Amino acid sequence: NLYSDRKNSAGMEFGHKPVLDHVAKVTADFTPPSQPIAAIINGKEERGDKETSPLLNPTTGEEFGSMLISSPETVDKAVKAARDAFQTWGRTEAEDRALYLTRYADILEQNMDRFFSLCAVEAGKTIDDAVAEVREAADFCRYYALQAEKQMGGRIELDGPTGQRDSWQLEPRGIFACISPWNFPLAIFIGQVTAALAAGNTVVAKPAEQTPYIAHVAVELMKQAGFPDGVCNLVLGEGETGKALVEHDDINGVCFTGSTATAHAINRALAAKDGPITPLIAETGGINALVVDSTALPEQVADDVVTSAFQSSGQRCSALRILYLQDDVADDMLEMIIGAAEARRFGDPSDPKTDIGPVIDKEAMDNLQAHADKMEKQGRLVWKGKTPEGLSGTFMAPHIFELDALDALKTEAFGPILHVVRWKNDQLDQVLEAVNATGYGLTFGIHSRIDGIADYVLPRVKAGNIYVNRNIIGAIVGVQPFGGAGLSGTGPKAGGPNYLQRFCEEKAVSVNT
Ligand code: NAD
Ligand code: ALA
Repeated sequence: NLYSDRKNSAGMEFGHKPVLDHVAKVTADFTPPSQPIAAIINGKEERGDKETSPLLNPTTGEEFGSMLISSPETVDKAVKAARDAFQTWGRTEAEDRALYLTRYADILEQNMDRFFSLCAVEAGKTIDDAVAEVREAADFCRYYALQAEKQMGGRIELDGPTGQRDSWQLEPRGIFACISPWNFPLAIFIGQVTAALAAGNTVVAKPAEQTPYIAHVAVELMKQAGFPDGVCNLVLGEGETGKALVEHDDINGVCFTGSTATAHAINRALAAKDGPITPLIAETGGINALVVDSTALPEQVADDVVTSAFQSSGQRCSALRILYLQDDVADDMLEMIIGAAEARRFGDPSDPKTDIGPVIDKEAMDNLQAHADKMEKQGRLVWKGKTPEGLSGTFMAPHIFELDALDALKTEAFGPILHVVRWKNDQLDQVLEAVNATGYGLTFGIHSRIDGIADYVLPRVKAGNIYVNRNIIGAIVGVQPFGGAGLSGTGPKAGGPNYLQRFCEEKAVSVNT
């Protein structure tokens, strides 16, 4: 365990009625923003922007607030604030930075209740997913604090010639632009920001346009942990705001999580800049596969497949998109998978009993529906969940399609749509070729009780996170460092021991004694 002396954030026991009653009560207690939410620069709200954009609840489709879109001038002001704050924060001891981060982890956990309603109303997240968000965010803080202490706590002495002292150390780069997606509106937002801060950088963060309120609350809570003003600045808006940020001349690094297409756009924008070469950390999408052979345990397969494909409404980069079933067990397995899917409750995410909530917005739902229509023409619809009655939000029914070609899926459909392909006994190599040929490489799973097969498959698959006989989502910080390669990202892995180094510069010092 890469954590060694620190523990992961604890979960909640939902089996007890008092806990359920408490969760239901606090989740119903949502406070919408009293005025348009705004950028936060140097610890203060920046209210000079004029253009606004509505905040929509995916469960009801109703507007619950709005945000002020940060202009290029506001972005510039945020970068200047980060530059000023870096003069001090960049020289703070790693140990002290770690203290702020661990204090902040405690504050996030203390505010767990508040994030239930925020995550449900703004992101359509179930209570289960909201708990996971807070736990992962707290884990990132504590893990990066520990790594900063270990890796940046002073110079590391190296062996050299007699009469000389040689050493090596990591130093912060300067200002990091952190650009995050809506599907982990707290965990990924906080993971990026706290890694940059742990390494001694200051930050300008731009959350996804769909989930700025959660990010705004998270940045406000940083004050309680005592972070100096200006070390984490927040700008708001769509891709244009992100573009203004990454194109800013004073940015020293970009940490991005989102689609592969946006990662390419950012990469091109950085490459077009003159001056120092700006490093990019990009964590992107996947066409993730799970292979099941005839020795697998059907009950376990059914549960793991449904969790991997439909938890979080399939809106996880790690989610299962294409399931390869060995053909002699495929009919039985499919029947059990459908049974397990039917048992999941689809509906209002603020009800603690709900398993699957809405997708993020109308654009996502329209894209998913277009994909489902295309699949229906290309293959066979095996199962479709029922959309909940009485809710007018963006509820995309979970779908299972059966397709014929091993390489039938070419694009990431980011929602609750599972594709199934049967493979014959002698086709395992072709299945693996099809998985690798997508060019992505994020998560991969295999269910098999034959040791030899798992050992044969694993080294042949290009994927960052591989799971055997379990589901393929929910990587835990410090336990399953997370991230892929190829079209899935640049690495390093979030929640892993090499992450902070990419937020740093290296310095070697040789002193002739
Ligand atoms: P997206 O790429 O549309 O947006 C992500 C962020 O980039 C948003 O904040 C957006 O405003 C910003 N952005 C858009 N255009 C930009 C530009 N030109 N310059 C700078 N910033 C810009 O992604 P999304 O729809 O928010 O998220 C879903 C995607 O994220 C999926 O593809 C999913 O697989 C991926 N994802 C990957 C991981 C991972 O760890 N690998 C985790 C979560 C999500
Ligand atoms: N880290 C997230 C998961 O593993 C994306 O599901």
